[in-house]
Amino acid sequence: MSLASSLIQSEIWKTLQIHHEQIGNDHMLDWFKQDPNRFENFHLDAAGLSLDYSKNRVTKETIGYLLQLAEQRELPAQIEAMFNGESINRSENRPALHTALRNFSDRQIMVDGTDIMPEIRETVQRMEEFCWKIRRNQWRGYSNAPFTDVVSIGIGGSFLGPKLGSSALKPYWDSGLNIHYLANIDGTHITEILKRLNPATTLFIIQSKSFGTQETLKNAMACRSWFLNNGGSEEYLAKHFTAVSSNVEKAVEFGIAEENIFPMWDWVGGRYSMWSAIGLPLALAIGIDNFRDLLRGAHAMDEHFRTAPLAQNMPVIMALLGIWYVNFFGVNSHAILPYDHYLRSLPAHLQQLDMESNGKSITLDGQPVQYNTGPVIWGGVGTNGQHAFHQLLHQGTHFSPCDFIMPMCSHNPIDNFHAMLVSNCLSQSQALLQGKSEEDAMEELVAGGMSQAQAMVLARQKMIPGNRPSNTLYFPKSTPQIVGALIALYEHKVAAQGMIWGVNSFDQWGVELGKQLGGKVLSALESDQIPSHFDGSTNGLVRAFHKMQSQL
Ligand code: F6P
Repeated sequence: MSLASSLIQSEIWKTLQIHHEQIGNDHMLDWFKQDPNRFENFHLDAAGLSLDYSKNRVTKETIGYLLQLAEQRELPAQIEAMFNGESINRSENRPALHTALRNFSDRQIMVDGTDIMPEIRETVQRMEEFCWKIRRNQWRGYSNAPFTDVVSIGIGGSFLGPKLGSSALKPYWDSGLNIHYLANIDGTHITEILKRLNPATTLFIIQSKSFGTQETLKNAMACRSWFLNNGGSEEYLAKHFTAVSSNVEKAVEFGIAEENIFPMWDWVGGRYSMWSAIGLPLALAIGIDNFRDLLRGAHAMDEHFRTAPLAQNMPVIMALLGIWYVNFFGVNSHAILPYDHYLRSLPAHLQQLDMESNGKSITLDGQPVQYNTGPVIWGGVGTNGQHAFHQLLHQGTHFSPCDFIMPMCSHNPIDNFHAMLVSNCLSQSQALLQGKSEEDAMEELVAGGMSQAQAMVLARQKMIPGNRPSNTLYFPKSTPQIVGALIALYEHKVAAQGMIWGVNSFDQWGVELGKQLGGKVLSALESDQIPSHFDGSTNGLVRAFHKMQSQL
């Protein structure tokens, strides 16, 4: 039987469907009344993080069934296979071993008969030396002035992870270096970054696992030209350009000195690569000790995911809750709501992590899935979102489960700002839970002096259904260890969901298509010929480009 059929034809899947019919409309508030310990009973701690999942549309029975589902899909064995380096990325015939990059245990990790740990440790050692030289002004620019700016050139996973780390750990920036992230193929982005910089004091890191990504190579070439045309020269390129890539040949061809190339490996996916030398710009900003702490935090979450029983396993529980909503409530989105300015880049990173991993509709055995898989991940920082998109969360026609993410202590404890921030976070999840009845709205309006007739009309608009689910993830402070654990938590949540759905969470053939087609459209834009070989819309848009460009 195919992976998809064995899922939806299983007894436990059918049990969950029946269970959903039975309790799907029950109100969580009733469960809170029935169980005064619901907070404690639906609560987990792991690697410095705490998860309150009591505000979910689940009972103990629901969790029991979901755990049975995980067991039936042999989740523990699949987790073990991932950590052991089996080729779980079947379409590319590779392991997914980002966990090896933060393996502080003495376990060997074998790939093709070789232990990869010595090479990983050696790379961290090289990163340490590099950071030391740059941060201590031992390695300087061509005019002998110390570096002031680092431009990290990369896109997708070679951008979002280090960028998240850099903004999340801003309080730990202690080198005085400014770090800039150049990702998009947009003349505006590169212009805005370079116009403020001095080539003599700027270091470039080209970040590309493949060294074949159009945007990254174009930006890298443009930075190289800018450097050469503004005081730099060929002989100084090696001082100012470094790279992180698994394609050493192409990096050397580009002009990077081989000793300035940090390795990447096939067994690390782009969206899981911030733990490798792709994290170099971050390590330059916060120092290698803090970078190691970030890895330690992720490792603590890895150990939890690998060893905790499923019922106490935070990534597994979050994965199962997601499956419950996607497959039984028909929900297709999930909001990430950090209440921490430093974590404002988290939704964008998790969007790539989750949607590139589980945005799949074919199972590992090549059959169409017969159920929904990864939801749309979106979100933004609180409280800003409360004055914008939270309206839909409260009163929209569809519900989107939310993850509220909140440090209990601020790096900047001024006045009572943090208590106000936390109070907003708590009251949003409270409002989603309890809503507001029409009667209460009516009462408020009449008490405010409105006539019964007017109040009846308005009360309906003000009614908020409530019973909308959320998780609250909380921790003492956004430290390197906590941030590492938090990102690893989501990596494992996504992996566990992929394992249960039977999809490959580690390839991304959909985005590869865009790369192929992009080249053909570029040729048409740059040609004098009127195109007729694309679809009608693309032909028309290419013609519009020609016309508008010629009118400038
Ligand atoms: O756009 C898809 C993608 O392959 C991502 O998965 C990856 O993170 C990104 O491109 C960058 O790839 P590379 O590091 O090879 O330049």
